[in-house]
Amino acid sequence: MNARRNLVVGNWKLHGTLAGNHGLLLQLITNLKGLNAIDFAVCLPYVYLFQAQQLLAGSNILWGSQNVSQYDEGAYTSCISAAMIAEFGCRFVILAHSERRMLRLEGHEVTAQRLLRALEGGLTPIYCVGEAQAERDAGIAEDAVKKQVLNMLHSLDDDAFVRAKQCNMVVAYEPVWAIGTGQHASPQQAQSMHAYIRQLIATRDPAFAQRVRIIYGGSLSADNAYAMLEMPDIDGALLGRSALVAESFTEICRIAN
Ligand code: G3P
Repeated sequence: MNARRNLVVGNWKLHGTLAGNHGLLLQLITNLKGLNAIDFAVCLPYVYLFQAQQLLAGSNILWGSQNVSQYDEGAYTSCISAAMIAEFGCRFVILAHSERRMLRLEGHEVTAQRLLRALEGGLTPIYCVGEAQAERDAGIAEDAVKKQVLNMLHSLDDDAFVRAKQCNMVVAYEPVWAIGTGQHASPQQAQSMHAYIRQLIATRDPAFAQRVRIIYGGSLSADNAYAMLEMPDIDGALLGRSALVAESFTEICRIAN
């Protein structure tokens, strides 16, 4: 553990029903009461943000969306803007998730625009980076992550960088090979990459690098959470499957607390 306040975020991905969410969120509100040493949040599909706002307002659970449009307004069918998301009380927005980068072919330029819109809209980005299996096998995991982190940093002009610092932007290290596979990174692998990401951020702003939260995602569960979260540069977790079960999410939050 370290001086930064841990953050545990559930990325619900394409899961949920009104009835199921209702039960899960109420259970989390009860379970997480009194855990005051960390922050926690759920990032839901857009259509459930209103429900999250209704249920979670006044609780200690924050919420957010899983993406945002690069457009503010106009003839852009199906897009959801940062201002719309903010209207539903969202604090966070996940950006650059590998499932968006790979499945929907969201490249760096689009992601960079989304990052700027999120910051202008007062949302706190959770910006994902992580290498693919082939890159790790080829011994170029750090190079792959470096490119992503530098792309992210370069997309922020000075004003945007100030906003990123003010809203406490978060970086998530999610090795693609660990997502949904049951094969999480070892605590040492993750620690080494988190320290490297922090070092890269320090090239832009050493003080911010010390306080930015870098959270880990990829098959993190209650079984491996302690070993991961005790690493000095791991400041929390971005959970997929473990976020869908109240007991697992709660247990990981307790470990992080
Ligand atoms: O964003 C979280 C995610 O990609 C990790 O998913 O199911 O491996 O915890 P999972």
